[in-house]
Amino acid sequence: MKINNTSISKNDAGKIVTLYGWVNKKRDLGGLIFIDLRDRSGIIQLTVSPESEVYNVAERLKNEYVIKVRGKVQMRQNANLNLETGEIEVLVSEIEILNKSNDLPFDLNNLTALDDTRLKYRYLDLRRSELQDKIITKHKIMNSTREYLNSLDFLEIETPILCKSTPEGARDYLVPSRVNPGSFYALPQSPQIFKQLLMVSGFERYYQIARCFRDEDLRADRQPEFTQIDMEMSFVDEDDIMNVTEGLIAKIFKDVKNIDIKLPLMRMTYEDAINLYGSDKPDLRFDMIINDITKCFLKTDFKIFSDVINSGGVINAIVVKNAADKYSRKDIDNLAEFVKIYGASILSFLKYDNAFTGSIVKFVSDDIAKCLINDLNLVNNDLIFVIAGDKKMVKTSLGALRIKIAKDLNLIKDGYKLLWITDFPMFEYSEEEGRYIACHHPFTMPQDVNNINDKEHALARAYDIVINGYEAGGGSIRIHDTNIQDKVFESLGLSREEALEKFGFLLNALSFGAPPHGGLALGLERLTMILSGTENIRDVIAFPKTASASDLMTDAPNTVSGKQLDELHIKISQ
Ligand code: AMO
Repeated sequence: MKINNTSISKNDAGKIVTLYGWVNKKRDLGGLIFIDLRDRSGIIQLTVSPESEVYNVAERLKNEYVIKVRGKVQMRQNANLNLETGEIEVLVSEIEILNKSNDLPFDLNNLTALDDTRLKYRYLDLRRSELQDKIITKHKIMNSTREYLNSLDFLEIETPILCKSTPEGARDYLVPSRVNPGSFYALPQSPQIFKQLLMVSGFERYYQIARCFRDEDLRADRQPEFTQIDMEMSFVDEDDIMNVTEGLIAKIFKDVKNIDIKLPLMRMTYEDAINLYGSDKPDLRFDMIINDITKCFLKTDFKIFSDVINSGGVINAIVVKNAADKYSRKDIDNLAEFVKIYGASILSFLKYDNAFTGSIVKFVSDDIAKCLINDLNLVNNDLIFVIAGDKKMVKTSLGALRIKIAKDLNLIKDGYKLLWITDFPMFEYSEEEGRYIACHHPFTMPQDVNNINDKEHALARAYDIVINGYEAGGGSIRIHDTNIQDKVFESLGLSREEALEKFGFLLNALSFGAPPHGGLALGLERLTMILSGTENIRDVIAFPKTASASDLMTDAPNTVSGKQLDELHIKISQ
């Protein structure tokens, strides 16, 4: 069995060892040849002296050749303390070339290659230790998860990949059925309904490291194919599920990073998160909360602001401490462009230095100045950004601006800020569909069954776990009562017939003694991103997709033969 390069240390000096790996780099100094031999564990230096019988073999080696060597471990004359094995080297007496390599399409030690080239040759990019480390982190998270949940008597149970479409908010990936012409399976967006059915079956505690598929617009933290640490429990309330999840997260942080997470985690309501941070996944690694300064402008003669107030809107601000001198007019114009993406047509600003200057200074009367200084705790050199308008737009725009500024000014502190967001709304209005849809999913238990027709205010028994501004996971207590489920479907505008057609099996199941139950799913890739310090989800997936959901290495998706299409009863319209 092969041994790891990095298992060799100065204690082995004098020993003969056999090593395997790739030629990471070769330096031919005219006399001695130095080879960095790479394996999964790391690099060790090989030295071949001109007197050696295998010197001519060493001369022929090129980068990425696969070799087997035998040699004697010795102390190095000049230790390289950046390398785990930097104090030693192996003086080579035998070399066997196990395989040659063509010149690589890009240099593994120099990251100037285009992303597309690296994705096309992903198996080569994955030879880099930076990427291998992330894939290994993901493995460790899965391992800790299994250890922890098994110790709590959870059962790992698989659920189907070819399923009936379930509504999770995204578009389904469909798979045509050959034996049922015109019919399609959907790939699961999550195992949601199946895990609920497992509760009806009496398994009580389920988990699965589950592959999920969603045909949605991709972002830096979203892939069409991703993995959930999916859990469901019977006879529980929110606290039980949150406790189990906190224990799991704490174990993962300890096992993977040796970090102790302080439990219990902080909890914040959805309403507070939106009001203070403009987001249901607030990044608490820096302050800069959103302040409501509507009341300072109640008597303003600035028409834009008074119109906003009269039409029920709000005026909110963020204060960037000690930054007035850091922002030029041009910088601020750029930020005004940035907030337009979120619907804010005007970004007003003020700078405070004993007095105010800035775009709306004309309208800052003495009273307004006093109110602002007091409510915003202003001190000299503070920079204030103000947005007025409809509350949702204002919060979203300032929430995004807050993060942009924190990144630009490097205000985000190292470390991890974890919290729960609770009391989510039951419904949200979908502009696209022109109606209210379930905020989490339609199987979520309302907090008050009697008020589910008040779509604006009804709350759900749902919670998310947020880490460093990422939604790391989410879940809810489910409806286990057919009558309540009927009412929620009705409230979503789904007739009994439609509900039966779509989820008849679930409604049926609920009528056969379904236990009270609830659960949660963590995004495995999001956790891995957070723990391995990358902002790109592609880094934590061995074979990821591009932004247009294609795999540049295998060329998926691709066209298929007419014969395959005929068998599937499919005609491609031009
Ligand atoms: P939800 O849709 O919130 O809940 O998903 C749970 C977690 O999965 C991760 N996630 C993703 N990660 C990468 N790429 C994606 N496209 C993607 N979409 C979601 C997020 C998210 O928090 N069935 C429910 C869970 C439950 O109620 O138990 C569900 O799927 O980290």
